[in-house]
Amino acid sequence: MTTGQLIIVDHAVALLSVAAWLTAGVAVAFRRARLALGLLAAAVLVTLARVTTVAMLAGRGWWFVQEKVLLGLPMLGAAGLAAVLIAGPRLLAAARRAPEAGILASRAWGDGMPASSVVLLLTAGYAALAGLVVTFLAGYPLTWSTALIAGSLVCAAALLTARVAATPADTTGDADIAPIQAPDGEPGFSRRRFISLAGGAVVASTGTTGVGLLFMPAESVATGGGPGRSSSSGAAVSVADLRGAGAPAPGGTRRQYALTAQTATVRLPSGREIQAWTYNGQVPGPPITVTVGDLIEVTLRNTDIDDGVTLHWHGYDVPCGEDGAPGVTQDVVAPGEEFVYHFRADQVGTYWYHTHQASHRGVRKGLYGTLVVTPRDTQQADEAATAKQLDLTLPVHTFDGTVVIAGQDGRTEHTTPAGTPVRLRLINTDSDPHRLALAGTPFRVTAVDGRDLNQPGEVREVGLRLPAGGRYDLVFAMPDTAVALVLDNDHDGGVRLRPDGAAAGEDPAVEDTSGWPELDLLHYGEPAVAPFDASKADRHFTIVLDRAVAMVDGAPAYAQTVNGRGHPSIPDQLVAKGDIVRFTVVNRSLETHPWHLHGHPVLIVSRDGKPSSGSPLWMDTFDVRPGQVWEVAIAATNPGIWMNHCHNLPHAHQGMMLQLHYDGVTTPFGGSHTSHPGGTGRSPRHGH
Ligand code: C2O
Ligand code: CU
Repeated sequence: MTTGQLIIVDHAVALLSVAAWLTAGVAVAFRRARLALGLLAAAVLVTLARVTTVAMLAGRGWWFVQEKVLLGLPMLGAAGLAAVLIAGPRLLAAARRAPEAGILASRAWGDGMPASSVVLLLTAGYAALAGLVVTFLAGYPLTWSTALIAGSLVCAAALLTARVAATPADTTGDADIAPIQAPDGEPGFSRRRFISLAGGAVVASTGTTGVGLLFMPAESVATGGGPGRSSSSGAAVSVADLRGAGAPAPGGTRRQYALTAQTATVRLPSGREIQAWTYNGQVPGPPITVTVGDLIEVTLRNTDIDDGVTLHWHGYDVPCGEDGAPGVTQDVVAPGEEFVYHFRADQVGTYWYHTHQASHRGVRKGLYGTLVVTPRDTQQADEAATAKQLDLTLPVHTFDGTVVIAGQDGRTEHTTPAGTPVRLRLINTDSDPHRLALAGTPFRVTAVDGRDLNQPGEVREVGLRLPAGGRYDLVFAMPDTAVALVLDNDHDGGVRLRPDGAAAGEDPAVEDTSGWPELDLLHYGEPAVAPFDASKADRHFTIVLDRAVAMVDGAPAYAQTVNGRGHPSIPDQLVAKGDIVRFTVVNRSLETHPWHLHGHPVLIVSRDGKPSSGSPLWMDTFDVRPGQVWEVAIAATNPGIWMNHCHNLPHAHQGMMLQLHYDGVTTPFGGSHTSHPGGTGRSPRHGH
């Protein structure tokens, strides 16, 4: 069973135990002795089953069970044990005395029944419920505040139940418990009343302390076991000064682009029109294709995107001042404004660009384009050779349910002579993963997230899962039969390649690709020496992803959280230049989180404890599926303040974003905590 499945089973068992304890209490209240006894037995069994599921989950990692082991189970254990030891024998006796239907007149329960049994059983139910609620609303890590609030709520509910249960329920005259008021009608002096008042006071003060702790300021920085901020402020450098080169490398060319953000009605090849946010009126924006060593110079202007825009070079390790993170590396570009990006193309491969301002909306509506950097020797090779290649850049984007590949909806077709080397550069610009299948030819995945793999082997009939933001370069030689690129098992769309001369109309039947096994990139290609030793990290950060109630941009929300917090309250991760930094990324939630760090290639060390055993795998966006634990590492060689976030952009907007902060780097742009992909921007006119 995967950890994700185990998490679901554990939730289900937890829910069952809540139901069993509560219905057992209710059955006693309705004087159904035998039913109550059966439910009590069920509650005990389900609770023991819960102990088992939690123990199994604990084997997958402490992060998955911490709040259950430290709070939920102890609370339930104590309340359940009291219920079994005190109410159990009474129920047993009552069930023996019960007539056929198992329903007893109140007097037949004997002294003190059923009120105390009702309270005990329901309290066990409240404890079980509180544990489940803590898991869903607070999660990891467990805080004193959460424990105090949960504990006092359970006690308060128990006290309240005791009061209600102690009140004569009807006027049949067979009430078997003392009324709250003393017989002479004088209120406030009965022992019961005293206990409930004192108990209430204790519960209230505990709860208040818990709520108070909730507002304690968080640490603003995590050091991951390394030294804290150095005090030598003389060494400080501003991100505004961390700009890219102004000239190409020797032999390179200055490539100038003007990208203007504007709303536009875009007509897709099918005739369908979309109201898009575009660069230069087209989706995707103009492709940027250069040769390594060239200078990329892009003037970004904004015509009428009121949210403001930027350009973020996804996966490209530009100097921080070119990174396009509004409020951190630059001011957002508002309508009428402009910003010029310039950096050297010194990294070969397939990348993309997109706005980083309110990106959950901006990217979805079309503010994205492709960035492809080819090696210089390819260009120097004679024109004839290059002309023989088929090199297709295929960004995949979904506009309101319509899949658009490189600007085309519906199926795209290409013809090329058999034997032509083909390279397909697939880019997922959506917030959810896509499943790809290449039918009709063996192929190699030659690059992942722009970086070449070491000796990737030939594969066929495998599925490829492309994370949000991720890229795969697939290469093969064109066979003399047709090839189909199938996306998400949709056989009508996708891309078809035909050898020259093949009849266009007559399509070869494409096999059903849905059952093809998924290629695991952690075990693909051949090992090679990595440029640094990930086992000797200077700092180690743990990122536990979940949903919880947390503050996001100053307002409480049911957030997408990192270590129980939402942006911008998640502590910055402090690193120093030269550090080897390790991250453990844990997904406790039931959704996939494509984790993305700006400015650095991320070396995948292991997933769920299994080391990456194929080619060194460098990614900038890796899918952390429910229950998964990824160990990854970077060499901190690119000083700056870098966004580190979930690339399911709505998740980032809902809090799942933090910053990797190099010691000594500062930002003049509105503070590091005012902007994010879903942010409201700095200027009031961008508020929404
Ligand atoms: Cu492609 Cu911070 O994003
Ligand atoms: Cu996410």
